[in-house]
Amino acid sequence: MKNVLVIHYSQTGQLSEVVHKLCAPLEAAEGIALHQLALRPQQDYPFPWPLLDFVDTFPETVYHEPRPLQPWQLPEGVEFDLVILAYQVWFLSPAQPITAFLQSSQGKALLKDKPVVTVIACRNMWLMAQEQVKQLLTQAGARLLDNVALVDQGSSLLTFITTPRWMLTGNKGRPGGWLPVAGLSEQTIGRASRFGQALVAALDRDEERGPGPLLHGLEAAVVDIRLIPSERIGRRSFMIWGKLLRRLGPPGTAARRIALRAYIVFLLTLIITVVPMSMLLRTLLRPLLRRKLMAQKAYFEQPSGSGTQRMATFTHD
Ligand SMILES: Cc1cc2nc3c(=O)[nH]c(=O)nc-3n(C[C@H](O)[C@H](O)[C@H](O)COP(=O)(O)O)c2cc1C
Repeated sequence: MKNVLVIHYSQTGQLSEVVHKLCAPLEAAEGIALHQLALRPQQDYPFPWPLLDFVDTFPETVYHEPRPLQPWQLPEGVEFDLVILAYQVWFLSPAQPITAFLQSSQGKALLKDKPVVTVIACRNMWLMAQEQVKQLLTQAGARLLDNVALVDQGSSLLTFITTPRWMLTGNKGRPGGWLPVAGLSEQTIGRASRFGQALVAALDRDEERGPGPLLHGLEAAVVDIRLIPSERIGRRSFMIWGKLLRRLGPPGTAARRIALRAYIVFLLTLIITVVPMSMLLRTLLRPLLRRKLMAQKAYFEQPSGSGTQRMATFTHD
């Protein structure tokens, strides 16, 4: 009997749905016991998010100072053969509940020497967050075998509208409207079951004891090279502003709220002026930087890769 633990947190239920689809084959498999750990912050995050609360969350998110979690319990005496760590991205960092789990002594003890598969569901910017998760996993002594990254439907320009609108109003949009529905497409969520099927096959062959990956050839992680520079710049900017804002006090302090308003104005000005110009510049420079960006794409797509050669074997529901 193999024991698989899946750890997750979800505000809207989207990531839980992905986890549900992905884990269905594991749940149905004989010889596998699936255990769930749904993380709960001691103080919940609002949804939909009031704008100021949303922005006020970024300094602690990027500096890994999350709200603490409620105590959790797992069945005693169970050694997990595989851990699936599902998370969403907040401000180019792992969402606070996942960081809280990865930093906790209980979480670290649980992950020590364990093979881990990370599963991300976010708008489309997950590279910097996964770098941080890799570091936190290494600190916990875990072994990362695979990474699956699922992203919202629609172009980057459209999800720049649909995802924040969803987060700030709770409105995902209508199929009849001109914008795509916010979040992952139903197809993306449904087809997550291929990863579960491949995990069942791999566990059957004890492959989780090896170096991995177990999920190659399944289009697990596709990197859009156009987003690599944006992620790096965004991360740097969050770190600088986060440092300044944290000096003004903890989330919710009056001085910080005033500065946050200035930050929002700064961001909007940047989006209207600098972002289009830098996008144009980067489009012009891309042919020159192509080789470098392709090398970075290959790096960020590791360990599972973007290959599709096993899709036919594992795509049925
Ligand atoms: C505070 C906050 C910040 C976010 N920042 C990012 C981000 O930097 N990159 C990204 O791709 N998605 C970002 N998202 C979208 C989430 O990754 C995710 O898609 C969304 O919150 C739905 O997840 P759920 O399962 O918790 O409902 C953010 C969402 C929230 C609430």
